[in-house]
Amino acid sequence: MSGGALIAPSILSADFARLGEQVRAVDEAGADWIHLDVMDGHFVPNITFGPEVVRAIRRHSAKCFDTHLMISPVDAYLEAFAAAGADRIIVHAEATTHLDRTLQAIGALGKAAGVALNPATSEAVVEHVLDRVDLVLVMTVNPGFGGQRFIQSQLEKIRRLRTMIGGRAIRIEVDGGITPETAPLAIEAGASVLVAGSAVFGSPPYDRAIAALRSGDRSG
Ligand code: DX5
Ligand code: ZN
Repeated sequence: MSGGALIAPSILSADFARLGEQVRAVDEAGADWIHLDVMDGHFVPNITFGPEVVRAIRRHSAKCFDTHLMISPVDAYLEAFAAAGADRIIVHAEATTHLDRTLQAIGALGKAAGVALNPATSEAVVEHVLDRVDLVLVMTVNPGFGGQRFIQSQLEKIRRLRTMIGGRAIRIEVDGGITPETAPLAIEAGASVLVAGSAVFGSPPYDRAIAALRSGDRSG
């Protein structure tokens, strides 16, 4: 079903020793956006990369760099990621005390802003900041690692968000455990952007992996 979902491969599952090449490969294979998972070993129990790596891979793709910051505190780093080439900056509602202020700061840097919600966080936390975002990211695993199992209870959260968003131009993105089997469930609930790490980088050829997620074709 759907046909229209955007696919954002997460480079968390790429070969970090040849990151530029891998970004170019998924770009050419039909990725709509490139999803960048930034982890600090504090907000989440894993460490990935910082703004200098974003800057280094920027010249390998002109597609939207969908930058998912799993770092706390986050405010002090927004400018560095904006300068490095992030197009959208997504912060966790749980990682900042003053979410509205953080989103205003992203907007002042000229970047699109998104809010990510951990599985245990209610969609209600974004209700009063919807006019500052163009995307809400529903984590369908607990953030920190690729290759985890999709948490089904998040489908209800996606449905409630869809209703809350109404006619606003705000996308719902899902991240974690997305496969050709779970993608149609997320799309049906109201998601229109699918992040996928292992289902793309762990399932070459990348063009077929991306097409299987986009079409929701379970035989993928
Ligand atoms: C998890 C990250 C995800 C991760 C998804 O903390 O935010 O983007 O890379 O990996 P998969 O698709 O393998 O579940
Ligand atoms: Zn992510």
